[in-house]
Parts: sequence; structure tokens; C-alpha cells
Amino acid sequence: MRVPFVNLKKQYSSIKAEVDASIARVLDSGNFILGGEVEAFEKEFASYCGAKHAVCVSSGTEALYLSLLAAGVKRGDEVITAANTAVPTATAVLMAGATPVFADASEKDFNIDPGLLEKQVTKKTKAIIPVDLYGQCADLTPVREIAEKHSIPVIEDACQAHGALYESRKAGSLCDFGCFSFYPTKNLGAYGDAGAITVNDEEKAEKLRLLRNYGQKSRYEHVSFGVNSRLDEIQAAVLRVKLRKLDGWNEQRRKLSRTYSEKLGGAVSLPLEMPGRKHVFHLFVVRSKLRNALQEHLSKAGVATIIHYPLPVPMQPYFAQNGFFRGSFAVASKLSGEILSLPIYPELSGEEADFVCSSVKSFFDRRGSRS
Ligand SMILES: Cc1ncc(COP(=O)(O)O)c(C=O)c1O
Repeated sequence: MRVPFVNLKKQYSSIKAEVDASIARVLDSGNFILGGEVEAFEKEFASYCGAKHAVCVSSGTEALYLSLLAAGVKRGDEVITAANTAVPTATAVLMAGATPVFADASEKDFNIDPGLLEKQVTKKTKAIIPVDLYGQCADLTPVREIAEKHSIPVIEDACQAHGALYESRKAGSLCDFGCFSFYPTKNLGAYGDAGAITVNDEEKAEKLRLLRNYGQKSRYEHVSFGVNSRLDEIQAAVLRVKLRKLDGWNEQRRKLSRTYSEKLGGAVSLPLEMPGRKHVFHLFVVRSKLRNALQEHLSKAGVATIIHYPLPVPMQPYFAQNGFFRGSFAVASKLSGEILSLPIYPELSGEEADFVCSSVKSFFDRRGSRS
């Protein structure tokens, strides 16, 4: 048996009729950028997240970049984020002309450690970006308390956490800005690049609408700086179909995570769902000191795995060479040597999940050792 890391064709075939009809509707309309589909999706997604507004943009990176601009971040400012995130979180900070400052992770939930975050706050800190890594919200209450104490806005990177809950509230509704990516492999994925920002006040939403469209208030009336970060109608129409399935798909991911946890406990260290949080398992990340050998064994057995991420961002060549390796990232470094993401997506069959588990177990049985 071969188990791919994701299988987007399987998902498409399960929703083909609805998706094809929605794309045909856009093609027939002759309206392709920022039209009725985008507007409708913005309303539906804001309501799904429990936020007042959603503003669609062209990617998750752009969502973070425009949020930083709307939060007033300027050249020379510092922005604190997680050391163990996807590189685009930090790229967005560089796009805004600011300096990314990294804080180490907590070993419990792999998210930014609020205590270490506070140690990085200086007079130059003008935003904090906690990342809801792998589908579980960061510990947002202490992060927000630190931010409030220092009057710094919080931009939640929820690019991996569509539908995740923190104290019964959805990711994207708890901070000043919630940033989402709809990259095709995400829990809610478009058929191309796409993103959105959720906010709770109209003034921020309006700023973001200007920023994504050349600062244009009405046709050829440019009232602020802006870029082209618009979403197209086809992606919005696809996202509207998929949003209706998101909760069911997330439940399927959670069910698979239970299968993995039941069958793999004792062999590898399992992801922890923290009290008060609902994990949506964008990724199912296990830990093992024998990670490299385990990955090789799984690859030979036909199970695709990925490491998210092999190096903390400040240790990536570009960031290290440009002076962004400032601080200690002992936890993030240790994690990057031990973590392994197993295949998890709603269409993964029970038989495939069982095969993944028996392949992991056969590795340890053969060695007579554990994690
Ligand atoms: C945590 C995180 N932040 C930001 C991004 C950037 O999103 P996009 O690829 O849509 O620009 C991603 C996507 O990979 C991500 O996982």
C-alpha cells in the first residue's frame, strides 16, 4: 500500500459536482475579481469564525503583511513571532520593512512560549504574531495580556487553524487581526493561492480593503498606500462550497487523530491537545529521537511523511546570515530534530491509517526500542 501525504484529487472527486457548478457560475457571470462571490464568502467566513468582518486577500503571507501595515508597523519596528513557524510568517514582517524577533516554543503545545515572548518585548516592538501551529491555537490569553500591558497589537497567524477553538472561541476571532491561508492543502483550501483577514472593527476592515486594492476608495480615487492583493471570484466560489464541509472535515481529522493516538501511544510521543483548546489537526506531528531512521523506514514502507519544519526560522541561512538569530531557541531546535508529520486528511481511509500505524510499529518492533 502507498499512503501519500495528502490527496487533493480524492477530495475534489467527493465535491466535484458542486465545485464545477460554482466555477461555471463565475465563468458565466463574466466577473472575475472582487465581486459577489468574494463578498458572499467574506460574510460567510466572518460568521463562521465569529468575527465581524473578513477581508479576502491573495494569500496567507499577504494577510499577515497587510495586517502588519494596518496595525501601523513601519520600517525599523520589531515584531515578535514564533521561532518554529513556517517561513512566510517572518517573510511578512520583512515585507513590512520590520525586524522579526523570535521567541522559543513551549514543549507542551509546540506553540510560542508566552513567558519567553515577554522577554523579547522592547520599546521597538510594534506587533506580536502568535502562530496556531499544526491546527492548535497558541496560548492566546497570556499572549494578549502581555500585548495589552505593552499596548501592542496581536496578529494571530491562524493559517493552519481554520475552525480551531480557544476557550470556545474560533481561531481568528480573539486577536486584533486573524490571518488565514487557503493554500490548497490547508483544512480549508482553495484551488490556487488565497487568504483572508478577520477583524472585529470596521475601521480596520476598511483599511485592509484599501491596502489590498491600490489604496483605491472608489474608481481612480487613491486615498492610501496599497498593493494588489485581491482575491479572484473563482477561488471565492470554491471556498464557499468547501466552507460548508469544513466542520465535517475537521471532525474526520480529529477521528483519525484518535486512531493514531490509540494505536501509536508508547511508540512515539503524541501531540497534546491542551485543556480549553480544540485542535483541528492540520498536521499530526509525532516526536521520536529516532526520527530520521523512522522517516526512512516509513518511506520504504510506502508512507509519505514531512518534517514541519527541519530548521527554526532564525536558523535558516537567510535569517541567520542577516542577524535575525538573536536569542536562544533550545526547544525549537530540539523539536526540529525529533518531529515528524504523519499523513492526515479527511479522505484518508481507516485502512490507510491502520497501515501508517502498523508501519510505525514495525519500525520499533524490529529495533526492540521505543521513541
Ligand atoms: C503558519 C503559516 N503562516 C503563513 C503561511 C503563508 O500562507 P500562504 O502560503 O498562503 O502565503 C503559511 C502557509 O504555508 C503557514 O502555514
